[in-house]
Amino acid sequence: MFSRRQWLRTTGLGLGATVALPGLLPASEMSRVLGGGVSYADMLAQMERDVTAARRAAGPIRLCFNENPFGMSPKAKDALMDGWAQHTWYMPPVRETIRETFAKHVGVPADHVLVTQGSSEVLSILAMAYSMEGGEIVAPWPTFEDLPRWGETLRATVHKVPLDANLDHDLVRMRELVGARTKLVFVCNPNNPTSNLADGPSLRRFVSEAATRAPVIVDEAYYDFVDTPGHRSMVDLVLAGENVIVSRTASKLFGLAGLRCGFAVARPDIIERLRQYITGDPNVFGLHAANAALLDTDYQAFVQAKNREGRALLLDALARLGRRAAPSQTNFVFFEAGRPVERLQQYFLERGFLIGRAFPPYADWARVSIGTPEEMRQFVDVLPGALA
Ligand SMILES: Cc1ncc(COP(=O)(O)O)c(C=O)c1O
Repeated sequence: MFSRRQWLRTTGLGLGATVALPGLLPASEMSRVLGGGVSYADMLAQMERDVTAARRAAGPIRLCFNENPFGMSPKAKDALMDGWAQHTWYMPPVRETIRETFAKHVGVPADHVLVTQGSSEVLSILAMAYSMEGGEIVAPWPTFEDLPRWGETLRATVHKVPLDANLDHDLVRMRELVGARTKLVFVCNPNNPTSNLADGPSLRRFVSEAATRAPVIVDEAYYDFVDTPGHRSMVDLVLAGENVIVSRTASKLFGLAGLRCGFAVARPDIIERLRQYITGDPNVFGLHAANAALLDTDYQAFVQAKNREGRALLLDALARLGRRAAPSQTNFVFFEAGRPVERLQQYFLERGFLIGRAFPPYADWARVSIGTPEEMRQFVDVLPGALA
């Protein structure tokens, strides 16, 4: 076991700072510092206060990379410290444990799951496994860029299909482009940078049909933030034996972006093919933390609720200012600023916030990640000046 002092040293907090900010501690330590009988809900409330203070003290508030402002759950920190004992091991048992935990989480057998170094690795190994010999990739544009970028690196021809006027995947055009030379089809739902959810039945029909001609990758990095009633993951298409790969991540809802843990869900034959291309397992700390995060449903509900609260603050403010914003189903908002994003970036930096870069061709739309509700209140206070 890691000692509290070791934890403080590794987090760089120092003893004084952490006694003042117990919300940054693992659950076991937090309950000791806060006194006996403290509930998990109390710990999370403490965490919210302390995380906001710590982030402000660390420099500009990062609303630029769709990170989880709360970071990992206190229980994930406990698990990470337990993982310390295995940091010298190859093939720690937790690599099988997390595979089973995640398989249960999404409702598939464990042989349908590959655990990767972030979901970016799912995209890179897909590109290697299917388009190393060239060929074509069909993807919406703009979208999360890793798969198109990897395809281009491997000299595939990437068809970047512009989004339609509603910022949705243009499924008609994408369907026309899927042909004999297609090696991979990419969809991202909800999409990044636009934040909106595609029409479920239309996308599902498109995926099933395209999968009869080429493997289809469905990037569901933001699935955990969707609150549209009845929204379904495409994991059931995998279970139906279709040529579909779903990617998920521990970086967003679970707040583990720096620990690099992601997941591919696919038929066992596809999983075995992809396995040939991975570099290795994620590090043992990431595996322990992600395994605990998958089981910590209280924390998941906490982050989802806080994200909803912060997102509503920003969307309401934009509506009051008469700005068009995509209907976000993620932990970020994409809105029409009506001026070059670089100007907004500068304006917000001067007021202590980092926001997302430009996503051409939407050069005057801004992407802002959702911070803690308190951070979003501060952000909304300075927002009118950016758009005046
Ligand atoms: C849509 C989408 N997919 C995948 C990723 C990669 O996430 P990670 O590699 O951290 O799992 C991101 C990161 O922002 C993303 O926005």
